[in-house]
This record gives sequence, structure tokens and C-alpha cells, in this order.
Amino acid sequence: MSAVNPLLDQDRNHHVHGQTNLRQHGEQGPAVMVTEGRGVYIRTDDGRELIDGFSGLGCTSLGYHNDRLADAAKRQMDRLPFAPTFYGRSHPKVAELAERLVKLAAVPIDRVMFQCSGSEANDAMIKFLWYRNIARGQPERRKLISRWRGYYGNTVAAVSLSGQPHMHANFGLPMDDFLKLSTPNYYHFHEDGETEEEFSARLAQEFENLVLATGPDKIAAFFAEPMQSGGGAILPPRGYWPGMQAVIKKYDIHFHVDEVVCGFGRTGHLWGAQAFGLEPDSTSCAKALTAAFFPMSALMFKEDFYQDMVQNSDEVGVLGHGFTYSGHPVGAAVALEALDIYDEIDLVGHVRAVAPHFLSGCEALMEHPLVGDARGIGLFCGIELVANKQTREQFDPALKVGQRVQDAAHDLGLYLRSIPPDRISFMPPLIIEKPEIDDALAILKQALDRVWSELQR
Ligand SMILES: Cc1ncc(COP(=O)(O)O)c(C=O)c1O
Repeated sequence: MSAVNPLLDQDRNHHVHGQTNLRQHGEQGPAVMVTEGRGVYIRTDDGRELIDGFSGLGCTSLGYHNDRLADAAKRQMDRLPFAPTFYGRSHPKVAELAERLVKLAAVPIDRVMFQCSGSEANDAMIKFLWYRNIARGQPERRKLISRWRGYYGNTVAAVSLSGQPHMHANFGLPMDDFLKLSTPNYYHFHEDGETEEEFSARLAQEFENLVLATGPDKIAAFFAEPMQSGGGAILPPRGYWPGMQAVIKKYDIHFHVDEVVCGFGRTGHLWGAQAFGLEPDSTSCAKALTAAFFPMSALMFKEDFYQDMVQNSDEVGVLGHGFTYSGHPVGAAVALEALDIYDEIDLVGHVRAVAPHFLSGCEALMEHPLVGDARGIGLFCGIELVANKQTREQFDPALKVGQRVQDAAHDLGLYLRSIPPDRISFMPPLIIEKPEIDDALAILKQALDRVWSELQR
């Protein structure tokens, strides 16, 4: 038993954690036990306060307390804690939220379906693409294209879409029909002398080659995050999205944009699609939809897509899909309140106002001997740690440099997320103010210094 906190043993002995080294967890127990949150700070069981440098998991847009969201949840729990959305049944909050999202969408979108997580939204989208293509008499249109280092979730189909090999290994995944393109990480993967535009053109050509090799009439959709998040906050290089969208248009490919992280202000635009000029045919969002106060996601698509689904549902009798908690009334009430708050405090305007300060502070870290690259948009920056800044050579993974920076930052008061190999995804809650940004950057710099001097030894 831990003399300090029995909860650590309860967790170590009984709680199975995802995305965690299970043996290490069994030996060492939880890396951190978060007990409270306030503003952009979390508090741990040992009484320490840390600035949250990754918004929980890119989700705590409004930080860690909000009376209005708590009251909205309480009011809804008192009035109607649950109502199904199966069999055409509904309740007021979900109807209101559907219309609200239609009005907010980046492009004309008419229909919204609710799920509980980003994974479920993307998984459902894959099913609906297949369902719709059957309705159109094109059952062979099943191939799904996405990118390495993309992250679309963990359910069997969504993870097949994800480009994270460790999430496929030993699960017998990905499923058939899932094809991958290169990640648009210019810093690492450009050839000597290749400009961002040339790199982008090469990747667009790779896309076109894959489309032609597969057969355009076999492709159900191309899925993408506007800016790759779980892959390490990878800012698309100049010319990337125009080139990719030219291929999408040329071959009339359904373009699904995953706004699970970028949606609701992260990039300084309401939608990531607006930040990069994307024209999605459908969109998934989650996380900041409820400011992470309730698990809820939404899938948004256009009327013509929906009408094809209607045709299939006529034939089968129902749309054979749904979850018990789809469109949960408490989630819908919290989401409506969160959207009101975003509007009233002009959250997107706030992100735009503080973003130059945040980004210039991140870019200044490139003077540090460990930092090869630091690029971002809004309150979203990817920081790449390298062994050699001239050659961009990466560290030996055994050195666990990213993990060490994460641990040092934790020690110094910043809750951080490193993503192998040695990338930091820096994305504080969207309500962060400039002095808090300065504190977070100062701690990150100290953490880098500490690891750098350890490496010198
Ligand atoms: C871009 C993106 N899409 C989908 C997901 C999956 O969402 P969830 O974890 O809610 O299933 C994530 C999770 O981080 C994500 O970052």
C-alpha cells in the first residue's frame, strides 16, 4: 500500500488504462492523480498545481470549472436525465442542438447525428458512407483514404482509419479497404532543397497516384483532420490543402473533415476547415462541443447524402445504427450552454487575440538546442525535439527525450503531452490569458534546459 495515497494502489491494482504501458503501470502506478481543476490549472493528489498544456486531451476548451455548464447539467438532470433517440423518439435539447450546429457549420450542412465520442462519430461516418453507396447502387465504393499519423479514434473501423501503427499492432488491424497517404510533416520529410510548396505538390501527386491505382469509383471517402493532432500537432505546409482539394474535386471524392480537435476555436477559427479553406462534404466534432463536461460527439452531413440514406432506410425499414446514449439530454443541454458561452465571451476572438503571443513564444523555443521546429496556428503548436538541428536527425528512441521533457515539465508545474518520436503537442485551454501563456512557456523552456543538460552529461 502507498503510505501517501491508497488511491494510487487502487488504481495500480484494478484500473486498466488505455494508451498506457500496462507493465509499467502495474509496477509504478498512475503517473499522475488529478483531483481538481480551476481555470487552466489542474491540481494533483499531492497538492501540486500545474498549468494544463494540452487541454486534457485537446478538449477542455473552457478550462476546469464553469458554473453555467454545471448548472445546465444539473437543470437537465433534474428535468429529464435520459431519453432515447431510437425509434424516432426525441427530446427538446437534442432537437435544438441539431439546428444550432446546422447554423454554425462551416459549409451548408443540413443533418446532424449524435454519438458519444469522436471515435463513434468517425466510425458511424464510415458505415454511413458504405450504406449510402449501397443505396446509390455502388456497393464496391468502399475504400477509405487517410494519412499516416492521423488520429480518428479507437473503435475497429475508426482505428483502421487512424495512421498510428501501435494502435494496429497485435489487434489484427487495420481492416481491409483502408489506405494511407504520407503525413504532411514538412520539417521531417522534405527532401534536401525541397520547398514547402514542392513538398505539398509531391504529396498531392501521391494522393492522385493512389486514387488512380485504386480506381476513383472504388473510393468511399478521404478523411482528414485540418491539422493533425494525435500525430503531434502537424501544421499543414503551404500549398498542401489547395493541392489535396484539387485532387478531391478532380475525382469527385467525398471529403470528410474531422473537427474533433480543431472544432470550436482551437485554430482561431470556429472550424479548422475555415482556418485552411477546406470544403468538407461531412464533418465530425466532439471534445469542445461540450467543453469536455460531457462525452458527446456530432456527425454532420449534407442533405443529398442524407436523402440517399433515407432511400436505404426505406428498403431496410430503419437506419440500423445508434447508441443508447446518442443525443443524451444532459450532453445536449451542456453543449447548448457551451455554445452560448463561446458566443458571449467571443472565444474565437480571444484565441485570435492571444495566438500571436503564444505562437511567437513557441517559435522562440527554436533557439533552444533541443528544438528543431515549432509551428502552429491559434492555440495549437507542434514542437519537434531533435538530436541534430542541421541534419534533423532524431534521438535514439531509447533515450525517451520527449517523455523526459514531459516529466521535467510536470516537475516544474506544466502538464504536457509528448508524442513519440519526441514531439510535443502544445495546446492549452482556449481561455488561457497571456500571463499564463508566459508561465507555461517559461516552464517548458526550463524543462528543455534540464533535459538538455542531462543529455550533455
Ligand atoms: C482528431 C481526432 N479525431 C477523433 C478522436 C477520437 O475521439 P474520442 O477519443 O472521443 O473517441 C480524437 C481523439 O483524440 C482526435 O484527436
